[in-house]
Amino acid sequence: MKRIEAIVRPSRLGAVLQALAKWGVSGITVTETVGFGQQQGHSEVYTEIYKGTEQVAGLVPKRQLTFYVLAEQVDEVIQCLCETARTGKPGDGKIAVSDLETVVRIRTGEKGRKSL
Ligand SMILES: Nc1ncnc2c1ncn2[C@@H]1O[C@H](COP(=O)(O)OP(=O)(O)OP(=O)(O)O)[C@@H](O)[C@H]1O
Ligand SMILES: [Mg+2]
Repeated sequence: MKRIEAIVRPSRLGAVLQALAKWGVSGITVTETVGFGQQQGHSEVYTEIYKGTEQVAGLVPKRQLTFYVLAEQVDEVIQCLCETARTGKPGDGKIAVSDLETVVRIRTGEKGRKSL
């Protein structure tokens, strides 16, 4: 199993969630966050929009999606995320994939594949 952590633009969140639901994701955690990439927040299209509202010291608002999938699903998920989160402009985000030791469904105690 793998843990996918995707950081996307707030404006793409709806489309990304819709695509992941259609793909068949079994669950997801979404977090409001801020951050910066290689432009350090300076040249992002949304910088001006957020100025004076949410943006703090070069940190740009983003949404972080965390979810668990089977290892063989990773390529498909990455493709789905790239297709739906991409605008082609700086700040589209990142996808990180990590190994996951196990997942447990608390209600039943099921572990691993069965827990997803
Ligand atoms: N190395 C990193 N580690 C942790 N989080 C990161 C990293 N790079 C980017 N992020 C997160 O992803 C968000 C979007 O990053 P961003 O898309 O600007 O990356 P980038 O490398 O600058 O690519 P681009 O040149 O396309 O903008 C950042 O605001 C930050 O929250
Ligand atoms: Mg950037």
